[in-house]
Amino acid sequence: MRFDRVIRNAMVATASDTFAADIGIQGGRIVQIGLDLPPGAEEYDAAGRFVTPGGVDAHCHLDQPMEPPLRMADDFDTGTRAAACGGTTTVIAFAAQRKGESLRAAVHDYHRRAEGRAHIDHAFHLIVSDPTEAVLAQELPALIGEGYTSFKIYMTYDDLKLDDGQILDVLDVARRHDAMAMIHAENADCIEWLTRRLEAGGRTAPRFHAHARPMLVEREATHRAIALSELVDVPILIVHVSGREAVEQIRWARSHGLNVFAETCPQYLLLTADDLGIDDSYQGARCVCSPPPRNRENQEVIWQGLADGLFTVFSSDHAPFKYDAPEGKKPGGEEVPFRHIPNGIPGIETRLPLLFSYGVLDGRLTINRFVELTSTNPAKAYGLHPRKGTIAVGADADLVVWDATPRTIRNVDLHHAVDYTPYEGVNVKAWPALTLSRGIVVWDGKNFHPQGGRGQFLRRGRPSLLPARPIKETP
Ligand code: URP
Ligand code: ZN
Ligand code: ZN
Repeated sequence: MRFDRVIRNAMVATASDTFAADIGIQGGRIVQIGLDLPPGAEEYDAAGRFVTPGGVDAHCHLDQPMEPPLRMADDFDTGTRAAACGGTTTVIAFAAQRKGESLRAAVHDYHRRAEGRAHIDHAFHLIVSDPTEAVLAQELPALIGEGYTSFKIYMTYDDLKLDDGQILDVLDVARRHDAMAMIHAENADCIEWLTRRLEAGGRTAPRFHAHARPMLVEREATHRAIALSELVDVPILIVHVSGREAVEQIRWARSHGLNVFAETCPQYLLLTADDLGIDDSYQGARCVCSPPPRNRENQEVIWQGLADGLFTVFSSDHAPFKYDAPEGKKPGGEEVPFRHIPNGIPGIETRLPLLFSYGVLDGRLTINRFVELTSTNPAKAYGLHPRKGTIAVGADADLVVWDATPRTIRNVDLHHAVDYTPYEGVNVKAWPALTLSRGIVVWDGKNFHPQGGRGQFLRRGRPSLLPARPIKETP
C-alpha cells in the first residue's frame, strides 16, 4: 500500500493507550498503525513527540446572529483558522433559534454562514429558545433525525431562557429521540434581582458582573437542572461549570446514579474574578463571561474534577467579541454598565496548549485523560465517535504533533479576529507543531495553510455516551 502520508516515530496517545508507532494515511483516513510502515508520498518525522487526535471543541460560538450593534468577531473562516492553529480539527458551534423563529430557519441561516468558509470539519448544536408545539412535535425530532443530535437549553438570558415547564418539555424530546441536552445553569431571576440592586447602588463597572452571578446562582440552577432531568429520566450535560458549588451538585447527582455529564473551560482554571477588575476600570470587560471566573480555591476544585473523572469534556466556550469596538465589549462605542457588556471570551486557539501545559506537563493530568477530555469524550458525547476523537484505523486522519518548546501567548501571534486574548503573557510549555485535518496540513507550527470550504459539515449520530436502554413512557 502506498500511503499519501506517514507520520513516523510518533508517541501515539489515545484516551486509553500510549505507544510508539508510525501512522499511515490515505484518502484522509488512518489506514495503518504500526512499526516500520512503508514510505508515503509525504513523510513527517514526529521524532518521539506525542501525537494526539485532533481536538474536538464542542462548545464554541461563531458568527452567531446578535442584536445590533453587537457582532461576533469570528466567523467560520477566522474561527476555524484559529482552531486549527491551536490543534483543534472539529468544532461544534450553535445554530440559535430566536424567539418567534422556527428552528429550521435558524439551521438554514447557520448553514449559509458556514458554507464555503470552514477550514476544518464542523457540526451544529441547536439552541432551543422557543419550544412551540411545532418545535417539540415536529421540528426538533426531525432535526435530531437529520444529525443535529444535541441542543442547548438556557436557564438565563432574557432572549434565550426557558422556564421549568418548557425545560421539561424539551428534555422529554431529548429522551424520546436520543439527543444530548446541554444546559446553561444560572438562575435568571436571582441575576436580575442582584443586578438591579447593584445598579441602584451605582455599582455598574465590569467587575460587578461577578457580583451579580455568585456561585449560589449557578448552584441553584445546577440543582434544578439535575432535578428536572431526573424527573424526565434523561441524561444532561451541564456546560461551563465554574467552581465548587456546581461541582458538588454534580457529584451528588452521580452518587445517586444519575447520568449527569459536565463540561468546564480554560477560564475556570486560569482566570479569577479579579480579571474582571479590582477597581472600576473598564479593562475587565475583556473577561466578562458567564458564569464568571471564581477564585484560586475554585480553580483547584475544577482541576480535581478534571483529574478524577467528574468532568466529561473540556471546551473553549469561545465567544469572540472585540474589546475596543462598537460591535463588541463597548457597544455603540460606549463603556456601558456590566448588564450590557456582551458575555463571552475568546479561547478556541489556546484551549489545547493551556491544558496540555498546565494539565499534562505540570503533572495534573495524564496524556490519556487530556485526550479523553479534549477529543474522545466530546466526540462520544455528540455523536462523532469513532470517526472523530481517536487514533485508529478507519478514523479520520485528524492529528496533532506536539512540540514541547516553551512560549508566551501573545495576541499578535493568534489567528482569531479578536483584538485581545485573556491569556496575554501567559507562558505555555507546548504548542502544536503540526495539525492535520483529514490528512491535510492546516498548521505546520509556524504557518496556517488555508483550506476555506474544505471543512465538511458533519451529520452526527446518536451520542454514544447516552446509556443504551429502552425508552420508558412518561407517567
Ligand atoms: O459568557 C458566555 N459563556 N458566553 C457565551 C454564551 C454561553 O452562554 O455560553
Ligand atoms: Zn452558556
Ligand atoms: Zn457558550
